[in-house]
Amino acid sequence: MKVIIVPSKEEMGTRAAAVIAERMRGRPHFVLGLATGSSPIPLYQELIRMNQARELDFAGAITFNLDEYIGLPPDHEQSYRRFMNENLFDHININRAFTHVPDGMAKDVDAHCAAYEQMMDDVGGVKCQVLGIGGNGHIGFNEPGSSLASRTRVVNLTRGTIEDNARFFERIEDVPKQAISMGIGTILEAESIVMLTYGENKADAVAKSLEGPITASVPASALQLHEDVTWIIVEDAAARLTLEWGR
Ligand code: F6R
Repeated sequence: MKVIIVPSKEEMGTRAAAVIAERMRGRPHFVLGLATGSSPIPLYQELIRMNQARELDFAGAITFNLDEYIGLPPDHEQSYRRFMNENLFDHININRAFTHVPDGMAKDVDAHCAAYEQMMDDVGGVKCQVLGIGGNGHIGFNEPGSSLASRTRVVNLTRGTIEDNARFFERIEDVPKQAISMGIGTILEAESIVMLTYGENKADAVAKSLEGPITASVPASALQLHEDVTWIIVEDAAARLTLEWGR
């Protein structure tokens, strides 16, 4: 695991963008795995800047998002499809037909999950997966207890995650209770992984994931099994690490 501790969110974003840009160059049909939430925003801002400055081309890029709420149509204010459009896709030269977010309105959701996995396989698999971590150690919507071998499927959100996400909805009752999420096994198949983390509320999950045992109780600890992870952490989220990571 390559751990990079940085002083600010902005630097987290520029360092992550540099890692991704280096991997994308010379590979026009690069397959990028993407996350929503606040953690990747500084990265997306830098990718937009690079694209607009013609330093990075997305014309042939293919993307797959980690997850989507069940029951929210793509144009819903809180859908992850809308988040991706507004925070990245609307501002770069990507072909919208090459961007994939699970369909939270799919009628046969199990068939949709299987088809999502198949689509990733058909394009040769994700080359670089962007991740954030939840305060409870989740990655994607793989909550504690998710099998380390899990694949794209329907998941139930924990009470804690529903409460965390309630700030984006008018009422807590409006937060969907289920989502479609790539599994931990799916995520681990990416050729490389870039995790972004900031905030002291993440410090405990970061320490457990990097320095604790590999366990389904802390889904991000599974990243210890992957050979090419770059974890970019702002100092506040690195506060509980005790080993000499990247200092
Ligand atoms: C989002 C996702 C989640 C978030 C995590 C952290 O697609 O997969 O695992 O990365 O909940 O969210 P933020 O970055 O908002 O703290």
